[in-house]
Amino acid sequence: MPDLQKTLGYRYLHDTKFTRKNIREKERPAIAPAPAFKDYPGAEKIDLPKNPQKPAADLWQLLQQRRSLRNFSGSPMSLDDLALLLWACQGITARAGAYLLRTAPSAGALYPIETYVAADRIEGLAPGLFHLNVGTFQLERLTDKPAGALVAQAALDQSFIGQAAAVFVWSAVLRRNMAKYGQRGLRYICMDAGHICQNLQLAAEALGRRSCPVAAIYDDELGDLLGLDGVEESAIYLAPVG
Ligand SMILES: Cc1cc2nc3c(=O)[nH]c(=O)nc-3n(C[C@H](O)[C@H](O)[C@H](O)COP(=O)(O)O)c2cc1C
Repeated sequence: MPDLQKTLGYRYLHDTKFTRKNIREKERPAIAPAPAFKDYPGAEKIDLPKNPQKPAADLWQLLQQRRSLRNFSGSPMSLDDLALLLWACQGITARAGAYLLRTAPSAGALYPIETYVAADRIEGLAPGLFHLNVGTFQLERLTDKPAGALVAQAALDQSFIGQAAAVFVWSAVLRRNMAKYGQRGLRYICMDAGHICQNLQLAAEALGRRSCPVAAIYDDELGDLLGLDGVEESAIYLAPVG
């Protein structure tokens, strides 16, 4: 293992620093942008409840109680609760000009993170892998077989993931962010994903559910499961909720 200063990680942070000098000489990155939203036009669409009953919750209590927990009861989750969790991740909350702002902040309001969910134990929903259409707040069905155990395998065989009611998986559409921020954008993409996961954990806590962030993944295995090419869009993070 090279010493810290020779690592790729250190060099990346070093080489993407802003300084008072380089900020003036900054060139526009030669990276074409990608559409702001993704959808699967041919997929079966499932309308998510738009106004489900929200349990009363005290933010300070939630912050105190939030924990990463890995033992799930295996009990099913209602579609209402799934909708609340998805809304906490990426729900649209306001419009500012052309931008549709969301529950979690995003550098430049570019929202490079897509949300998928392996929903095996949701009342009234046949198991499968889904994509969240953020604009219409619908699930788009990608598969019709239970997917939690497959996600667990692709996450270094962390088998507890397969016991969740739903596993939220996040991918990064690099161009959305990097067309504006270039190399430095990768910092922001990871931060965006972190904000989303924190929202999910707090919302899960408010619903009396357990959750755990997971970044130990076989990246391409997880991407393949979602049908991602690993270039334009890569799986980066996930969280089971049970
Ligand atoms: C970026 C990130 C990646 C993580 N990856 C995993 C993981 O792959 N497997 C796991 O069991 N926990 C994972 N965790 C959970 C941490 O182990 C946990 O947050 C930490 O032990 C602190 O505990 P707390 O979240 O309950 O406060 C991850 C957490 C973060 C923020």
